[in-house]
Amino acid sequence: MLKQFFYLGWWFFGARVLGRRKPLQTVLFISDRCNLQCKHCSVYQLKNPHNMTYEQVREHLQYSYDLGSRFVDFEGGETMIWRDGKRNINDLIDLAKEIGFFSATITTNAQLPFTGCRADSIWVSLDGIGPYHEAVRGKGTFARLEQNIATANHKALNVNMAVNTLNYESVDETIEYVRNNPHVKSISINFHTPFPGTEYLMIDRDLRNRIIDRVIAYKKKGYPIMNSVSGLKKMKRNDFKRRCWVTNFVYPDGSHGNCIGEGTDICNDCGLCMAGEMASVFNFCPDTILAGLSLRM
Ligand SMILES: C[S@@+](CC[C@H](N)C(=O)[O-])C[C@H]1O[C@@H](n2cnc3c(N)ncnc32)[C@H](O)[C@@H]1O
Repeated sequence: MLKQFFYLGWWFFGARVLGRRKPLQTVLFISDRCNLQCKHCSVYQLKNPHNMTYEQVREHLQYSYDLGSRFVDFEGGETMIWRDGKRNINDLIDLAKEIGFFSATITTNAQLPFTGCRADSIWVSLDGIGPYHEAVRGKGTFARLEQNIATANHKALNVNMAVNTLNYESVDETIEYVRNNPHVKSISINFHTPFPGTEYLMIDRDLRNRIIDRVIAYKKKGYPIMNSVSGLKKMKRNDFKRRCWVTNFVYPDGSHGNCIGEGTDICNDCGLCMAGEMASVFNFCPDTILAGLSLRM
């Protein structure tokens, strides 16, 4: 733990004082194969999906670690269906730890049981309650998600909601649901990002800002909201300097780089609240740093 705090201090010093642009976290898309076809998603491929091998994942992890990254989130596609021979997602989590990552998280749609998952924390995508979730993710997906989170028995299970035109009316009940669900630790709120073909799902700026105000109010009342107030305020003003280089991305085809929205109009409409969180980390906002540490360590 001491080593990890020392590293974080060193990273901040490098970033803030020396102007070093090195990532601290990695989003690694291990596949674009999925068991769902969610309306808002532009990652999954129906024909010829990519599926990284264990050795390819090792190379990408080592590359990211050598860049300076120490936190990894395995993304897809669906992470729970990833296989390379007998290897599954747990082998990738173990691999990340062997290489030296401080923590490894996964994001899943929770359509398959994930009891025994060795990730330090698990993000389950929950896009509203009942029919709201299913309007985005398809029939039967909510009941399966409920069943699988109830049996997962994981100490750090968080949910992620992507708010869009189909589910924005369900934000308040979803926050209440998380507070009352003993299997879920917290919720992170994000907004739809208009990747090509999904523009119609983006809510307007005024509605988004009203929802952010409500989320901040819930947080101040003690609801388990993972977003920091500093990060949410940045997302509301939307005039902050992006620091998304704090994350390096590895895409399913093995290409590396920054967020695919960077340098495009999508960046201005980005709803991924991680953007506000990363800028707040860089600005040394204590509430954001605490939120990040509580998630990751
Ligand atoms: C691409 S999915 C892959 C992981 C997994 N299959 C799942 O459904 O959670 C990762 C996360 O990105 C979110 N997401 C996908 N498209 C998005 C978009 N256009 N804007 C905001 N979030 C999006 C999903 O809701 C999910 O929480």
